Amino acid sequence: MEKKGKINMINGPVISGTNMSNFKMREMVMVGDNKLIGEVIILDGENGTIQVYEETEGLRIGEEIVSTEKPLSVKLGPGMLGNMFDGIQRPLLEINKINKNYIPEGIGLISIDEERLWSVEMLVSVGDQLNQGDIFGVVQETSLIKHKLLVPPGVSGLVTSIVKNGFYNIEEVLLTLEDNNNIHELKMYHEWPVREPRPVKSRKEIQIPLITGQRVLDMLFPLAKGGTCAIPGGFGTGKTMTQHQLAKWSDADIIVYIGCGERGNEMTEVLEDFPKLIDPKTNKPLMGRTVLIGNTSNMPVAAREASIYTGITIAEYFRDMGYDVAIMADSTSRWAEALREISGRLEEMPAEEGYPAYLSSRIAEFYERAGYVETYSGNTGSVSIIGAVSPPGGDFSEPVTENTKRFINVFLALDKELAYERHYPSINWLNSYSGYINVLQKWYEENLADDAITLRNNILELLYEENKLQEIVMLVGEDVLPDDQRLILEVSKLIKVGFLQQNAFHDLDTYVPLEKQYRMLKVIYYLYEKAKEVLKLNIPISQVKNQEIFDEIVKMKYTVLNDDLSKIDQIYDSINDYYNKLEKKYLK
Ligand SMILES: Nc1ncnc2c1ncn2[C@@H]1O[C@H](COP(=O)(O)OP(=O)(O)O)[C@@H](O)[C@H]1O
Ligand SMILES: [Mg+2]
Repeated sequence: MEKKGKINMINGPVISGTNMSNFKMREMVMVGDNKLIGEVIILDGENGTIQVYEETEGLRIGEEIVSTEKPLSVKLGPGMLGNMFDGIQRPLLEINKINKNYIPEGIGLISIDEERLWSVEMLVSVGDQLNQGDIFGVVQETSLIKHKLLVPPGVSGLVTSIVKNGFYNIEEVLLTLEDNNNIHELKMYHEWPVREPRPVKSRKEIQIPLITGQRVLDMLFPLAKGGTCAIPGGFGTGKTMTQHQLAKWSDADIIVYIGCGERGNEMTEVLEDFPKLIDPKTNKPLMGRTVLIGNTSNMPVAAREASIYTGITIAEYFRDMGYDVAIMADSTSRWAEALREISGRLEEMPAEEGYPAYLSSRIAEFYERAGYVETYSGNTGSVSIIGAVSPPGGDFSEPVTENTKRFINVFLALDKELAYERHYPSINWLNSYSGYINVLQKWYEENLADDAITLRNNILELLYEENKLQEIVMLVGEDVLPDDQRLILEVSKLIKVGFLQQNAFHDLDTYVPLEKQYRMLKVIYYLYEKAKEVLKLNIPISQVKNQEIFDEIVKMKYTVLNDDLSKIDQIYDSINDYYNKLEKKYLK
Protein backbone atom coordinates (compact mmCIF):
# COMPACT_ATOMS: atom_id res chain seq x y z
CA MET A 1 0.00 0.00 0.00
CA GLU A 2 1.35 3.41 -0.91
CA LYS A 3 2.24 5.51 2.09
CA LYS A 4 0.67 8.97 1.98
CA GLY A 5 0.75 11.83 4.46
CA LYS A 6 -0.74 15.32 4.37
CA ILE A 7 1.05 18.65 4.74
CA ASN A 8 -0.15 20.60 7.79
CA MET A 9 2.58 23.22 8.17
CA ILE A 10 5.11 24.94 5.91
CA ASN A 11 8.10 26.80 7.34
CA GLY A 12 10.59 27.55 4.57
CA PRO A 13 12.59 24.42 3.81
CA VAL A 14 10.94 22.57 6.69
CA ILE A 15 7.41 21.20 6.49
CA SER A 16 5.28 19.05 8.76
CA GLY A 17 2.76 16.41 7.88
CA THR A 18 0.21 14.16 9.54
CA ASN A 19 -0.93 10.64 8.80
CA MET A 20 2.73 9.59 8.68
CA SER A 21 2.88 6.80 11.29
CA ASN A 22 4.06 4.23 8.73
CA PHE A 23 6.88 6.43 7.36
CA LYS A 24 10.50 5.80 8.28
CA MET A 25 13.21 8.16 9.54
CA ARG A 26 15.54 9.45 6.80
CA GLU A 27 13.16 8.21 4.14
CA MET A 28 13.06 10.17 0.91
CA VAL A 29 9.63 11.59 0.09
CA MET A 30 7.84 13.55 -2.64
CA VAL A 31 6.07 16.57 -1.26
CA GLY A 32 3.04 18.32 -2.72
CA ASP A 33 1.48 18.43 -6.17
CA ASN A 34 4.86 19.32 -7.68
CA LYS A 35 6.50 16.29 -6.05
CA LEU A 36 9.32 18.22 -4.41
CA ILE A 37 12.09 16.04 -3.06
CA GLY A 38 12.41 15.87 0.72
CA GLU A 39 13.70 13.73 3.56
CA VAL A 40 11.98 12.73 6.78
CA ILE A 41 14.01 14.13 9.68
CA ILE A 42 11.64 13.74 12.65
CA LEU A 43 8.89 11.20 13.29
CA ASP A 44 6.53 11.39 16.25
CA GLY A 45 3.49 9.14 16.08
CA GLU A 46 1.20 10.42 13.36
CA ASN A 47 3.33 13.48 12.77
CA GLY A 48 6.43 13.86 10.70
CA THR A 49 8.85 16.65 9.83
CA ILE A 50 10.52 16.86 6.46
CA GLN A 51 13.34 18.96 5.07
CA VAL A 52 12.67 19.85 1.47
CA TYR A 53 15.44 20.19 -1.08
CA GLU A 54 13.55 22.56 -3.33
CA GLU A 55 11.79 25.90 -3.10
CA THR A 56 8.63 25.43 -1.02
CA GLU A 57 6.88 28.67 -1.92
CA GLY A 58 4.29 26.97 -4.12
CA LEU A 59 3.31 24.34 -1.54
CA ARG A 60 -0.16 24.41 0.06
CA ILE A 61 -1.38 22.88 3.30
CA GLY A 62 -3.36 19.71 2.64
CA GLU A 63 -1.22 18.56 -0.29
CA GLU A 64 0.13 15.03 -0.24
CA ILE A 65 3.42 13.60 1.02
CA VAL A 66 4.31 10.36 -0.76
CA SER A 67 7.02 7.95 0.31
CA THR A 68 9.69 6.73 -2.11
CA GLU A 69 10.40 3.78 0.19
CA LYS A 70 14.13 4.48 0.27
CA PRO A 71 16.61 6.74 2.01
CA LEU A 72 18.14 9.76 0.25
CA SER A 73 20.56 8.08 -2.15
CA VAL A 74 22.87 8.78 -5.05
CA LYS A 75 23.24 6.81 -8.25
CA LEU A 76 26.81 5.63 -8.57
CA GLY A 77 27.90 4.81 -12.09
CA PRO A 78 29.41 6.27 -15.26
CA GLY A 79 28.34 9.81 -16.08
CA MET A 80 29.52 11.56 -12.93
CA LEU A 81 32.98 12.66 -14.08
CA GLY A 82 32.94 15.96 -15.88
CA ASN A 83 29.47 16.55 -14.56
CA MET A 84 28.06 19.13 -12.18
CA PHE A 85 25.33 18.32 -9.71
CA ASP A 86 23.26 20.06 -7.09
CA GLY A 87 23.27 18.86 -3.48
CA ILE A 88 21.08 15.85 -4.24
CA GLN A 89 22.88 14.86 -7.44
CA ARG A 90 20.65 16.52 -9.98
CA PRO A 91 22.59 17.53 -13.09
CA LEU A 92 22.99 21.30 -13.20
CA LEU A 93 24.00 21.43 -16.85
CA GLU A 94 20.89 19.54 -17.96
CA ILE A 95 18.73 21.67 -15.70
CA ASN A 96 20.40 24.75 -17.07
CA LYS A 97 19.13 23.81 -20.51
CA ILE A 98 15.57 23.76 -19.13
CA ASN A 99 15.91 26.88 -17.05
CA LYS A 100 18.84 29.25 -16.98
CA ASN A 101 18.51 30.86 -13.60
CA TYR A 102 17.23 28.41 -11.06
CA ILE A 103 16.22 24.81 -10.64
CA PRO A 104 12.54 24.58 -11.57
CA GLU A 105 10.40 22.94 -8.91
CA GLY A 106 9.31 19.39 -9.32
CA ILE A 107 11.77 18.24 -11.94
CA GLY A 108 12.08 15.13 -9.83
CA LEU A 109 15.00 12.93 -9.05
CA ILE A 110 16.95 13.03 -12.26
CA SER A 111 20.66 12.35 -11.86
CA ILE A 112 23.16 10.65 -14.15
CA ASP A 113 22.21 10.24 -17.81
CA GLU A 114 20.13 7.10 -18.36
CA GLU A 115 20.25 7.11 -22.15
CA ARG A 116 23.89 7.66 -22.92
CA LEU A 117 25.64 4.55 -24.23
CA TRP A 118 28.92 3.45 -22.70
CA SER A 119 31.38 0.95 -24.13
CA VAL A 120 31.47 -1.84 -21.56
CA GLU A 121 34.21 -4.43 -21.24
CA MET A 122 33.20 -7.36 -19.04
CA LEU A 123 35.92 -8.93 -16.92
CA VAL A 124 34.15 -12.04 -15.58
CA SER A 125 32.56 -15.22 -16.95
CA VAL A 126 29.52 -17.34 -16.26
CA GLY A 127 30.27 -19.61 -13.31
CA ASP A 128 32.55 -17.14 -11.50
CA GLN A 129 31.87 -16.49 -7.83
CA LEU A 130 31.68 -12.75 -7.18
CA ASN A 131 31.64 -10.98 -3.86
CA GLN A 132 30.80 -7.47 -2.77
CA GLY A 133 33.18 -4.87 -4.17
CA ASP A 134 34.55 -7.12 -6.91
CA ILE A 135 35.19 -5.44 -10.24
CA PHE A 136 33.13 -7.16 -12.94
CA GLY A 137 33.71 -4.79 -15.85
CA VAL A 138 35.20 -1.49 -16.97
CA VAL A 139 34.03 1.55 -18.88
CA GLN A 140 36.48 4.13 -20.22
CA GLU A 141 34.45 6.99 -18.78
CA THR A 142 36.72 9.86 -19.80
CA SER A 143 40.06 9.88 -21.54
CA LEU A 144 41.63 10.10 -18.08
CA ILE A 145 39.68 7.59 -16.00
CA LYS A 146 38.57 3.99 -16.29
CA HIS A 147 35.34 3.49 -14.40
CA LYS A 148 35.39 0.11 -12.72
CA LEU A 149 32.00 -1.56 -12.35
CA LEU A 150 31.60 -2.85 -8.80
CA VAL A 151 29.44 -5.55 -7.29
CA PRO A 152 27.45 -3.42 -4.79
CA PRO A 153 28.14 -3.75 -1.06
CA GLY A 154 26.20 -6.63 0.47
CA VAL A 155 25.74 -8.49 -2.83
CA SER A 156 27.46 -11.72 -3.89
CA GLY A 157 26.78 -14.89 -5.87
CA LEU A 158 27.59 -17.04 -8.86
CA VAL A 159 27.50 -15.44 -12.31
CA THR A 160 24.59 -17.04 -14.20
CA SER A 161 24.43 -14.76 -17.21
CA ILE A 162 26.45 -11.97 -18.71
CA VAL A 163 26.23 -9.62 -21.71
CA LYS A 164 28.80 -9.44 -24.50
CA ASN A 165 31.22 -6.52 -24.58
CA GLY A 166 29.51 -3.63 -26.29
CA PHE A 167 27.53 -0.43 -25.84
CA TYR A 168 24.93 -0.22 -23.09
CA ASN A 169 23.13 2.43 -21.09
CA ILE A 170 23.22 2.43 -17.31
CA GLU A 171 19.75 0.91 -16.95
CA GLU A 172 20.53 -2.29 -18.89
CA VAL A 173 21.26 -5.46 -16.93
CA LEU A 174 24.85 -6.55 -17.59
CA LEU A 175 25.13 -9.50 -15.29
CA THR A 176 23.03 -11.76 -13.10
CA LEU A 177 24.27 -13.28 -9.89
CA GLU A 178 22.58 -16.11 -8.05
CA ASP A 179 23.03 -16.97 -4.41
CA ASN A 180 20.69 -19.21 -2.41
CA ASN A 181 17.97 -18.73 -5.00
CA ASN A 182 18.26 -14.96 -4.82
CA ILE A 183 18.83 -13.39 -8.21
CA HIS A 184 20.74 -10.10 -8.37
CA GLU A 185 20.64 -8.13 -11.58
CA LEU A 186 23.67 -5.89 -11.82
CA LYS A 187 23.72 -2.75 -13.92
CA MET A 188 26.41 -0.19 -14.58
CA TYR A 189 25.29 1.72 -11.49
CA HIS A 190 23.94 1.03 -8.06
CA GLU A 191 22.36 3.30 -5.48
CA TRP A 192 23.77 4.11 -2.08
CA PRO A 193 22.28 6.12 0.82
CA VAL A 194 24.35 9.26 1.21
CA ARG A 195 24.35 9.35 4.99
CA GLU A 196 25.84 5.89 5.33
CA PRO A 197 29.60 5.36 4.85
CA ARG A 198 30.39 2.70 2.24
CA PRO A 199 32.02 -0.38 3.76
CA VAL A 200 35.68 -1.26 3.26
CA LYS A 201 37.66 -4.43 3.90
CA SER A 202 40.01 -2.70 6.31
CA ARG A 203 41.35 0.68 7.25
CA LYS A 204 45.08 1.07 6.87
CA GLU A 205 47.58 3.27 8.65
CA ILE A 206 48.19 6.55 6.89
CA GLN A 207 51.66 6.37 5.32
CA ILE A 208 51.79 8.27 2.01
CA PRO A 209 51.70 12.03 1.57
CA LEU A 210 49.26 13.72 -0.77
CA ILE A 211 51.84 15.62 -2.78
CA THR A 212 50.54 19.02 -3.83
CA GLY A 213 53.47 20.80 -5.47
CA GLN A 214 52.92 23.62 -2.98
CA ARG A 215 56.11 24.17 -0.99
CA VAL A 216 54.65 25.29 2.31
CA LEU A 217 52.46 22.19 2.32
CA ASP A 218 54.73 19.44 1.05
CA MET A 219 57.81 20.50 3.00
CA LEU A 220 56.34 22.02 6.16
CA PHE A 221 52.73 20.90 6.66
CA PRO A 222 52.19 17.82 4.51
CA LEU A 223 48.78 16.37 3.75
CA ALA A 224 48.31 12.61 3.60
CA LYS A 225 46.45 10.29 1.29
CA GLY A 226 43.38 9.40 3.29
CA GLY A 227 43.93 12.30 5.66
CA THR A 228 41.96 15.33 6.74
CA CYS A 229 42.75 19.01 6.44
CA ALA A 230 41.02 22.27 7.22
CA ILE A 231 41.78 25.62 5.61
CA PRO A 232 40.29 28.37 7.73
CA GLY A 233 40.60 31.96 6.64
CA GLY A 234 38.72 35.22 6.44
CA PHE A 235 37.35 36.67 3.25
CA GLY A 236 39.96 37.07 0.51
CA THR A 237 42.75 35.19 2.28
CA GLY A 238 42.99 32.52 -0.42
CA LYS A 239 40.79 29.56 0.57
CA THR A 240 39.31 29.07 -2.87
CA MET A 241 42.63 29.65 -4.57
CA THR A 242 44.34 27.07 -2.36
CA GLN A 243 41.61 24.53 -2.97
CA HIS A 244 41.84 25.11 -6.72
CA GLN A 245 45.61 24.59 -6.55
CA LEU A 246 45.05 21.31 -4.70
CA ALA A 247 42.40 20.22 -7.20
CA LYS A 248 44.77 20.95 -10.06
CA TRP A 249 48.06 19.75 -8.70
CA SER A 250 47.66 17.23 -5.90
CA ASP A 251 48.48 13.68 -6.90
CA ALA A 252 44.95 12.39 -6.38
CA ASP A 253 43.33 10.48 -9.24
CA ILE A 254 39.86 11.90 -8.78
CA ILE A 255 38.65 15.25 -7.46
CA VAL A 256 35.24 15.84 -5.92
CA TYR A 257 34.71 19.56 -5.51
CA ILE A 258 31.80 20.83 -3.45
CA GLY A 259 31.10 24.51 -3.86
CA CYS A 260 28.92 25.63 -0.97
CA GLY A 261 28.20 29.13 -2.24
CA GLU A 262 30.10 31.80 -0.40
CA ARG A 263 28.34 34.52 -2.31
CA GLY A 264 25.45 34.43 -4.73
CA ASN A 265 27.62 34.49 -7.79
CA GLU A 266 30.50 32.35 -6.67
CA MET A 267 28.95 29.10 -7.84
CA THR A 268 28.57 30.55 -11.31
CA GLU A 269 32.26 31.25 -11.06
CA VAL A 270 32.98 27.64 -10.16
CA LEU A 271 30.69 26.40 -12.91
CA GLU A 272 32.42 28.65 -15.40
CA ASP A 273 35.99 28.50 -14.08
CA PHE A 274 36.36 24.84 -13.32
CA PRO A 275 35.64 23.56 -16.83
CA LYS A 276 38.37 25.89 -18.07
CA LEU A 277 41.02 24.35 -15.81
CA ILE A 278 43.53 22.15 -17.58
CA ASP A 279 44.94 19.07 -15.89
CA PRO A 280 48.62 19.94 -15.91
CA LYS A 281 49.71 16.32 -15.92
CA THR A 282 47.80 15.35 -19.05
CA ASN A 283 46.98 18.69 -20.66
CA LYS A 284 43.36 17.64 -20.86
CA PRO A 285 40.45 19.36 -19.11
CA LEU A 286 40.61 18.77 -15.37
CA MET A 287 36.89 18.00 -15.48
CA GLY A 288 37.85 14.64 -16.99
CA ARG A 289 38.67 13.47 -13.48
CA THR A 290 36.45 15.81 -11.49
CA VAL A 291 32.93 15.71 -10.12
CA LEU A 292 31.52 19.09 -9.21
CA ILE A 293 28.75 19.68 -6.72
CA GLY A 294 27.33 23.13 -6.49
CA ASN A 295 25.07 25.08 -4.20
CA THR A 296 24.85 28.80 -4.50
CA SER A 297 23.68 30.78 -1.54
CA ASN A 298 20.43 31.31 -3.48
CA MET A 299 19.75 27.58 -3.77
CA PRO A 300 17.64 25.84 -1.08
CA VAL A 301 19.56 25.42 2.20
CA ALA A 302 18.51 21.81 2.73
CA ALA A 303 20.22 20.83 -0.52
CA ARG A 304 23.34 22.50 0.78
CA GLU A 305 23.10 20.42 3.94
CA ALA A 306 22.89 17.27 1.81
CA SER A 307 25.66 18.25 -0.63
CA ILE A 308 28.46 17.27 1.75
CA TYR A 309 27.07 13.74 2.03
CA THR A 310 26.41 13.43 -1.68
CA GLY A 311 30.00 14.47 -2.35
CA ILE A 312 31.64 12.16 0.16
CA THR A 313 29.57 9.20 -1.04
CA ILE A 314 30.71 9.76 -4.61
CA ALA A 315 34.30 10.05 -3.33
CA GLU A 316 34.01 6.75 -1.44
CA TYR A 317 32.65 5.05 -4.54
CA PHE A 318 35.72 5.99 -6.61
CA ARG A 319 37.92 4.99 -3.66
CA ASP A 320 36.30 1.57 -3.78
CA MET A 321 37.60 1.21 -7.35
CA GLY A 322 41.11 1.64 -5.96
CA TYR A 323 41.56 5.34 -6.70
CA ASP A 324 43.01 8.10 -4.57
CA VAL A 325 40.27 10.66 -4.26
CA ALA A 326 40.53 14.16 -2.86
CA ILE A 327 37.38 15.96 -1.84
CA MET A 328 37.23 19.69 -1.30
CA ALA A 329 34.41 21.54 0.37
CA ASP A 330 34.33 25.32 -0.05
CA SER A 331 33.14 26.29 2.44
CA THR A 332 32.02 24.05 5.29
CA SER A 333 30.94 27.18 7.16
CA ARG A 334 28.12 27.71 4.69
CA TRP A 335 27.14 24.10 5.20
CA ALA A 336 27.10 24.64 8.98
CA GLU A 337 24.92 27.70 8.43
CA ALA A 338 22.45 25.51 6.55
CA LEU A 339 22.37 23.19 9.58
CA ARG A 340 21.77 26.20 11.79
CA GLU A 341 18.94 27.52 9.67
CA ILE A 342 17.14 24.18 9.56
CA SER A 343 17.70 23.67 13.27
CA GLY A 344 16.22 27.11 13.93
CA ARG A 345 13.13 26.27 11.90
CA LEU A 346 12.76 23.12 13.96
CA GLU A 347 12.89 25.28 17.09
CA GLU A 348 15.64 23.14 18.54
CA MET A 349 17.52 24.41 21.56
CA PRO A 350 20.42 26.41 20.12
CA ALA A 351 23.96 25.94 21.42
CA GLU A 352 26.93 28.23 20.70
CA GLU A 353 26.16 31.09 18.32
CA GLY A 354 22.84 29.54 17.37
CA TYR A 355 24.37 26.39 15.91
CA PRO A 356 22.66 23.17 16.95
CA ALA A 357 24.26 21.06 19.68
CA TYR A 358 24.95 18.33 17.11
CA LEU A 359 27.16 20.60 14.96
CA SER A 360 30.24 18.94 16.38
CA SER A 361 29.09 15.38 15.74
CA ARG A 362 28.03 16.26 12.18
CA ILE A 363 31.46 17.72 11.46
CA ALA A 364 33.07 14.63 12.98
CA GLU A 365 30.94 12.28 10.88
CA PHE A 366 32.03 14.07 7.73
CA TYR A 367 35.77 14.02 8.41
CA GLU A 368 35.64 10.44 9.71
CA ARG A 369 34.74 9.33 6.22
CA ALA A 370 38.28 10.14 5.10
CA GLY A 371 40.69 7.22 5.10
CA TYR A 372 43.35 5.11 3.50
CA VAL A 373 41.77 1.70 3.00
CA GLU A 374 41.92 -1.75 1.57
CA THR A 375 38.85 -2.10 -0.65
CA TYR A 376 36.76 -5.24 -1.06
CA SER A 377 38.28 -5.64 -4.51
CA GLY A 378 41.67 -6.04 -2.84
CA ASN A 379 43.03 -2.68 -3.98
CA THR A 380 44.09 0.25 -1.89
CA GLY A 381 42.24 3.50 -2.24
CA SER A 382 41.86 6.68 -0.29
CA VAL A 383 39.59 9.60 0.40
CA SER A 384 41.37 12.75 1.53
CA ILE A 385 39.17 15.58 2.81
CA ILE A 386 40.13 19.24 2.56
CA GLY A 387 37.53 21.59 3.99
CA ALA A 388 37.66 25.36 3.79
CA VAL A 389 36.26 27.19 6.79
CA SER A 390 35.21 30.84 6.61
CA PRO A 391 35.02 32.20 10.15
CA PRO A 392 33.28 35.58 10.33
CA GLY A 393 35.92 38.29 10.52
CA GLY A 394 38.67 35.66 10.26
CA ASP A 395 38.38 34.95 13.98
CA PHE A 396 39.21 31.26 14.56
CA SER A 397 37.60 31.11 18.00
CA GLU A 398 34.13 30.47 16.61
CA PRO A 399 32.21 27.18 16.73
CA VAL A 400 32.77 25.89 13.19
CA THR A 401 36.54 26.44 13.20
CA GLU A 402 36.95 25.17 16.75
CA ASN A 403 34.87 22.05 16.20
CA THR A 404 36.55 21.33 12.89
CA LYS A 405 39.95 21.57 14.56
CA ARG A 406 39.03 18.66 16.81
CA PHE A 407 38.59 16.26 13.93
CA ILE A 408 41.24 17.18 11.38
CA ASN A 409 44.97 16.53 11.35
CA VAL A 410 46.28 19.28 9.11
CA PHE A 411 45.40 22.85 9.93
CA LEU A 412 46.38 25.48 7.37
CA ALA A 413 45.67 28.80 9.02
CA LEU A 414 45.24 31.53 6.43
CA ASP A 415 46.26 34.89 7.72
CA LYS A 416 44.82 38.23 6.66
CA GLU A 417 48.00 40.15 7.47
CA LEU A 418 50.02 37.87 5.21
CA ALA A 419 47.38 38.16 2.49
CA TYR A 420 47.46 41.92 2.93
CA GLU A 421 51.24 41.89 2.43
CA ARG A 422 50.61 39.69 -0.62
CA HIS A 423 52.48 36.83 1.00
CA TYR A 424 50.69 33.97 -0.83
CA PRO A 425 49.70 31.33 -0.01
CA SER A 426 48.93 33.22 3.19
CA ILE A 427 49.44 30.14 5.36
CA ASN A 428 50.69 31.23 8.75
CA TRP A 429 53.60 28.96 9.67
CA LEU A 430 53.32 29.74 13.37
CA ASN A 431 49.81 28.44 13.97
CA SER A 432 49.45 25.89 11.17
CA TYR A 433 50.35 22.27 11.75
CA SER A 434 50.40 18.83 10.23
CA GLY A 435 49.74 15.89 12.50
CA TYR A 436 51.13 13.52 9.89
CA ILE A 437 54.85 14.27 10.26
CA ASN A 438 55.55 11.15 12.31
CA VAL A 439 53.64 8.72 10.10
CA LEU A 440 55.04 10.22 6.91
CA GLN A 441 58.63 10.47 8.10
CA LYS A 442 59.52 7.04 6.75
CA TRP A 443 58.08 7.87 3.34
CA TYR A 444 60.01 11.14 3.15
CA GLU A 445 63.23 9.43 4.20
CA GLU A 446 62.86 6.61 1.72
CA ASN A 447 61.50 8.61 -1.20
CA LEU A 448 63.03 12.04 -0.81
CA ALA A 449 66.05 12.29 1.50
CA ASP A 450 67.28 10.89 4.80
CA ASP A 451 67.28 14.32 6.35
CA ALA A 452 64.05 15.67 4.79
CA ILE A 453 62.15 15.82 8.08
CA THR A 454 65.16 16.98 10.08
CA LEU A 455 65.60 19.79 7.59
CA ARG A 456 61.92 20.67 7.92
CA ASN A 457 62.17 20.77 11.70
CA ASN A 458 65.30 22.92 11.56
CA ILE A 459 63.62 25.40 9.23
CA LEU A 460 60.52 25.66 11.42
CA GLU A 461 62.79 26.11 14.43
CA LEU A 462 64.44 29.06 12.70
CA LEU A 463 61.08 30.59 11.89
CA TYR A 464 59.88 30.22 15.50
CA GLU A 465 63.10 31.78 16.69
CA GLU A 466 62.67 34.64 14.25
CA ASN A 467 59.19 35.28 15.58
CA LYS A 468 60.55 35.68 19.11
CA LEU A 469 63.30 37.98 17.89
CA GLN A 470 60.79 40.13 16.01
CA GLU A 471 59.15 40.94 19.32
CA ILE A 472 62.43 42.31 20.60
CA VAL A 473 63.02 44.17 17.37
CA MET A 474 59.61 45.81 17.74
CA LEU A 475 60.61 47.09 21.16
CA VAL A 476 64.22 48.12 20.75
CA GLY A 477 65.13 47.80 17.07
CA GLU A 478 67.35 45.41 15.21
CA ASP A 479 70.68 47.06 15.94
CA VAL A 480 70.91 45.81 19.50
CA LEU A 481 70.72 42.17 18.42
CA PRO A 482 73.94 40.16 18.26
CA ASP A 483 75.02 39.16 14.78
CA ASP A 484 74.01 35.50 15.05
CA GLN A 485 70.45 36.63 15.82
CA ARG A 486 70.47 39.14 12.99
CA LEU A 487 71.48 36.30 10.75
CA ILE A 488 68.36 34.41 11.82
CA LEU A 489 66.27 37.41 10.77
CA GLU A 490 67.99 37.58 7.40
CA VAL A 491 67.70 33.87 6.67
CA SER A 492 64.07 33.81 7.77
CA LYS A 493 63.35 36.52 5.26
CA LEU A 494 64.90 34.27 2.63
CA ILE A 495 62.75 31.35 3.70
CA LYS A 496 59.62 33.48 3.55
CA VAL A 497 60.21 35.23 0.27
CA GLY A 498 62.29 32.61 -1.50
CA PHE A 499 60.51 29.50 -0.34
CA LEU A 500 57.16 29.97 1.40
CA GLN A 501 55.75 32.50 -1.03
CA GLN A 502 54.55 30.72 -4.12
CA ASN A 503 52.74 32.38 -6.97
CA ALA A 504 49.80 30.38 -8.27
CA PHE A 505 49.70 32.53 -11.40
CA HIS A 506 53.33 31.92 -12.41
CA ASP A 507 53.86 29.08 -14.89
CA LEU A 508 56.97 27.71 -13.23
CA ASP A 509 56.11 28.48 -9.64
CA THR A 510 52.51 27.27 -9.56
CA TYR A 511 53.63 23.66 -9.14
CA VAL A 512 57.03 22.57 -7.88
CA PRO A 513 58.19 18.94 -7.79
CA LEU A 514 59.10 17.63 -4.36
CA GLU A 515 62.76 17.13 -5.26
CA LYS A 516 63.13 20.80 -6.18
CA GLN A 517 61.31 21.87 -3.02
CA TYR A 518 63.74 19.88 -0.92
CA ARG A 519 66.82 21.14 -2.74
CA MET A 520 65.63 24.74 -2.40
CA LEU A 521 65.12 24.41 1.32
CA LYS A 522 68.38 22.56 1.73
CA VAL A 523 70.47 25.23 0.04
CA ILE A 524 68.86 27.91 2.20
CA TYR A 525 69.79 25.96 5.30
CA TYR A 526 73.27 25.33 3.95
CA LEU A 527 73.72 29.07 3.51
CA TYR A 528 72.59 29.59 7.09
CA GLU A 529 75.04 27.08 8.51
CA LYS A 530 77.92 28.37 6.43
CA ALA A 531 77.21 31.95 7.44
CA LYS A 532 76.88 30.98 11.09
CA GLU A 533 80.30 29.33 11.01
CA VAL A 534 81.90 32.36 9.49
CA LEU A 535 80.26 34.66 12.03
CA LYS A 536 82.09 32.75 14.74
CA LEU A 537 85.32 34.21 13.35
CA ASN A 538 84.01 37.64 14.34
CA ILE A 539 83.45 38.64 10.76
CA PRO A 540 80.77 41.36 10.74
CA ILE A 541 77.27 40.51 9.49
CA SER A 542 77.54 43.15 6.79
CA GLN A 543 80.27 41.00 5.20
CA VAL A 544 78.62 37.69 5.98
CA LYS A 545 75.41 38.66 4.29
CA ASN A 546 76.35 38.73 0.65
CA GLN A 547 73.60 40.45 -1.27
CA GLU A 548 74.36 38.66 -4.53
CA ILE A 549 74.01 35.21 -3.02
CA PHE A 550 70.89 36.20 -1.12
CA ASP A 551 69.38 37.57 -4.33
CA GLU A 552 70.26 34.43 -6.22
CA ILE A 553 68.43 32.35 -3.61
CA VAL A 554 65.36 34.57 -3.54
CA LYS A 555 65.10 34.25 -7.29
CA MET A 556 65.80 30.53 -7.57
CA LYS A 557 62.10 29.67 -7.73
CA TYR A 558 62.03 31.48 -11.05
CA THR A 559 65.51 30.63 -12.33
CA VAL A 560 65.83 26.94 -11.46
CA LEU A 561 63.79 24.88 -13.88
CA ASN A 562 61.52 22.20 -12.46
CA ASP A 563 63.23 19.48 -14.49
CA ASP A 564 66.79 20.78 -14.31
CA LEU A 565 68.08 21.45 -10.82
CA SER A 566 71.72 21.96 -11.82
CA LYS A 567 71.40 25.69 -11.16
CA ILE A 568 71.09 24.87 -7.46
CA ASP A 569 74.53 23.27 -7.61
CA GLN A 570 75.85 26.58 -8.92
CA ILE A 571 74.38 28.32 -5.89
CA TYR A 572 76.28 25.90 -3.64
CA ASP A 573 79.42 26.80 -5.56
CA SER A 574 78.81 30.52 -5.07
CA ILE A 575 78.27 29.99 -1.35
CA ASN A 576 81.40 27.91 -0.92
CA ASP A 577 83.53 30.29 -2.99
CA TYR A 578 82.39 33.36 -1.19
CA TYR A 579 82.74 32.07 2.36
CA ASN A 580 86.05 30.33 1.73
CA LYS A 581 87.49 33.57 0.43
CA LEU A 582 86.02 35.53 3.29
CA GLU A 583 87.50 33.14 5.80
CA LYS A 584 90.92 33.31 4.22
CA LYS A 585 90.82 37.08 4.21
CA TYR A 586 90.01 37.25 7.91
CA LEU A 587 92.26 34.43 9.04
CA LYS A 588 95.29 36.07 7.49
N1 LIG B 1 48.86 31.20 -4.06
C1 LIG B 1 48.43 32.39 -4.55
N2 LIG B 1 49.12 32.99 -5.52
C2 LIG B 1 48.73 34.18 -6.02
N3 LIG B 1 47.65 34.84 -5.60
C3 LIG B 1 46.91 34.31 -4.62
C4 LIG B 1 47.25 33.04 -4.03
N4 LIG B 1 46.34 32.77 -3.09
C5 LIG B 1 45.47 33.79 -3.09
N5 LIG B 1 45.78 34.72 -4.00
C6 LIG B 1 45.08 36.00 -4.28
O1 LIG B 1 44.08 36.23 -3.29
C7 LIG B 1 42.80 36.46 -3.90
C8 LIG B 1 41.67 35.97 -3.03
O2 LIG B 1 41.73 34.58 -2.89
P1 LIG B 1 40.42 33.67 -2.71
O3 LIG B 1 40.89 32.27 -2.82
O4 LIG B 1 39.34 34.09 -3.61
O5 LIG B 1 40.03 34.01 -1.21
P2 LIG B 1 38.87 33.40 -0.30
O6 LIG B 1 38.32 32.21 -1.02
O7 LIG B 1 39.55 33.05 0.99
O8 LIG B 1 37.88 34.49 -0.12
C9 LIG B 1 42.91 35.73 -5.23
O9 LIG B 1 42.04 36.26 -6.18
C10 LIG B 1 44.37 35.95 -5.60
O10 LIG B 1 44.55 37.18 -6.22
MG1 LIG C 1 36.43 31.73 -1.66
